[in-house]
Amino acid sequence: MLLHIPEILDADQVRHARGLLEAAGWIDGRATAGHQSARVKDNLQLPEDHPASREIGGTIQAALQRSALFVSAALPLRVFPPLFNRYDGGRAFGNHVDNAVRQVPGTPYRVRTDLSATLFLNDPSEYDAGELLVEDTYGVHAVKLPAGHLVLYPSTSLHRVSPVTRGVRLASFFWVQSMLRDDGERTLLFDLDTAIQALGRQLPDHPAAVQLTGVYHNLLRRWADL
Ligand code: NI
Repeated sequence: MLLHIPEILDADQVRHARGLLEAAGWIDGRATAGHQSARVKDNLQLPEDHPASREIGGTIQAALQRSALFVSAALPLRVFPPLFNRYDGGRAFGNHVDNAVRQVPGTPYRVRTDLSATLFLNDPSEYDAGELLVEDTYGVHAVKLPAGHLVLYPSTSLHRVSPVTRGVRLASFFWVQSMLRDDGERTLLFDLDTAIQALGRQLPDHPAAVQLTGVYHNLLRRWADL
């Protein structure tokens, strides 16, 4: 499932994040790339332990926990501390699949990357091209969202960022280990939850709403891996 989650950050949060990012020193993005992706990666990144990474990353993590849509779609177990990248002057990131497992720096934790996320930090009008292109069995999806909006997609997908031909593209990216490893099971539960929410709004007292909520939790109990 490829899902657009609007307004994870509000305009003030985006403005504050951009101020911090514009003042920060960037490094070569190959610092966190695997062997294959380093060959096709050409962007700049903020160091993982940079104070701006930690501050904006904390804001993003808190915002994700408040987003009912994110929680329903991702069923998150662990979220990798958000990283930040910058593309300008024709920089791009060629086709790759993200590493399956990531060590969280400075901790004993590892995150299995079930879902990849990009949170856009400036508006599409500020740069040309720079789309995130995600491939699945339905073809290639081009994603370029307003500042503060997030896209979530399975980490198993081949994806790339097309060369930024004008301006600067700023984004945060991170990975989610879901309670459900399997994208198909996760998508079924998301669809079921969405339907239950709609039913609850129209027929809040219908016994079937309670029964379906029970089915949701019993499937989650059966499939969740904690
Ligand atoms: Ni990637």
